[in-house]
Amino acid sequence: MARGPGLALRSLPLLLLLLLAAMTGRAAAQDNCTCATNKMTLCLPEYPGGRCQCRALGTNIEVNCSSLTSKCLLLKARMSARKSGRGLVRPSEHAIVDNDGLYDPDCDHQGRFKARQCNQTSVCWCVNSVGVRRTDKGDQSLQCDELVRTHHILIDLRHRPTDRAFNHSDLDAELRRLFRERYLLPPRFVAAVHYEPPTIQIELRQNASQKAPGDVDIADVAYYFERDVKGESVFSGRSGLDVSVRGQPLLMEPPLIFYLDEKPPQFSMKRLTSGLVAVIVVVVLALVAGVAVLVISNWRRSGKYRKVEIKEMGELRREPSL
Ligand SMILES: *[C@@H]1O[C@H](CO)[C@@H](O)[C@H](O)[C@H]1NC(C)=O
Ligand SMILES: *[C@@H]1O[C@H](CO)[C@@H](O)[C@H](O)[C@H]1NC(C)=O
Ligand SMILES: *[C@@H]1O[C@H](CO)[C@@H](O)[C@H](O)[C@H]1NC(C)=O
Ligand SMILES: *[C@@H]1O[C@H](CO)[C@@H](O)[C@H](O)[C@H]1NC(C)=O
Ligand SMILES: *[C@@H]1O[C@H](CO)[C@@H](O)[C@H](O)[C@H]1NC(C)=O
Repeated sequence: MARGPGLALRSLPLLLLLLLAAMTGRAAAQDNCTCATNKMTLCLPEYPGGRCQCRALGTNIEVNCSSLTSKCLLLKARMSARKSGRGLVRPSEHAIVDNDGLYDPDCDHQGRFKARQCNQTSVCWCVNSVGVRRTDKGDQSLQCDELVRTHHILIDLRHRPTDRAFNHSDLDAELRRLFRERYLLPPRFVAAVHYEPPTIQIELRQNASQKAPGDVDIADVAYYFERDVKGESVFSGRSGLDVSVRGQPLLMEPPLIFYLDEKPPQFSMKRLTSGLVAVIVVVVLALVAGVAVLVISNWRRSGKYRKVEIKEMGELRREPSL
C-alpha cells in the first residue's frame, strides 16, 4: 500500500467517495437483508447484487424466505437460541415437563423431522411429520421405518369475550383469508371452521397426494399460527396477528392443537407415564378405524405446565382448565 503522497492527495476525494459509496451500499444491503418469514435466521448479502442468503440458526440450512420454514428447523433454531443464553440458569430436570413439545430435534437436509428422534442420552422415539412422539420411548436399537404424515390438524381455541358473537360465515371467511395470506395455505386445505361462541375450531387437512410441490405443509402452518396467537411470531418485522371480523377485533386465546396421523400411533398403554413431552389424549374418531392418539401441545399463559393426563379411548374429555 505504499503510495506517493501526490497520488493519494489527488485521488483523495475520489477515494472518499468510493469508500462512502461502499459503506452505505453495504449498510443498505445489510439493512434489508432479513428473512421476512423467519426471524431465527442469519442472513448475509451473499448472492450477486446483494441478494440475501438466509440460513436457519442452529443448522445452517438455507431457508426460502418467500415461504414458511419447516417446524423442525424452527424448533432447532429456538433450542440453539436457548443454549446460547449463558447468563441464565437451567431448570432442574425435575422442574420441567415441557408441554410445549419443545426439544432439540434432528432435521433432515430438507428441514423435515427425521422419523427417529433421540435426546442426548440413548433414549429414542419415533415422531410424525409435526415432530410429535407417536411411539413409546426406546433405546438406540429402536427402528422408525418412515416419517408418518400428520394429515389432519384440529386447532381448538377460544376468543376473548366480545359484545356480540361473530357471524359464523364472516368468521369462516376471515380465517380462511388469514391462512391464505399470512401462512400461504391454499384454501382447499382449510377443511372447516366450526364456531360455537366463544370456541372456534379450525380443521386443516392435507394428505401427501394433495400437496403439490411448493405448497406449505399444514404442520408448519399450524406451528406459525400457534406462535402468532401466543404473541411469539416467527415472522420478522411483521406486526402480530391483527384479525377483525366486520370491524370487530378477534382476539384469540392460546390454542389446543390435535394431530391425527395417517397411521395410528403405537403406544403401549401400560408404559405411558407422566413426564411425557406432550399431553396425550386418546380419542376414537367415528370415521377413523382404530385408535387415534391426539397430542395436544399447549402452553398456558400462566407459565405453569399442565399435568400429563391419559384418557381411556372412547371419549374425548377435556379438563375444565383447558
Ligand atoms: C436491498 O435494497 C436494495 C435497494 O433498495 C435492493 O436493490 C436490494 O435488492 C435489496 N436487497 C435485498 C436482499 O433485499
Ligand atoms: C421459495 O418459495 C416460493 C413460494 O413457495 C417459490 O415460488 C420459490 O420457487 C421458492 N424458491 C426456492 C429457491 O425454492
Ligand atoms: C432423555 O430422556 C430421558 C427419558 O425421558 C430422560 O430421563 C433424560 O433426562 C433425557 N435426557 C436429556 C439430556 O434430555
Ligand atoms: C352472516 O353474514 C352473512 C353475509 O356475510 C349473511 O348472509 C348471514 O345472514 C349472516 N348470518 C347471521 C346469523 O347474521
Ligand atoms: C387424499 O385426500 C383426497 C381428498 O380428501 C382423497 O380423495 C384421497 O383419497 C386422499 N388420498 C389418500 C392417499 O388418502
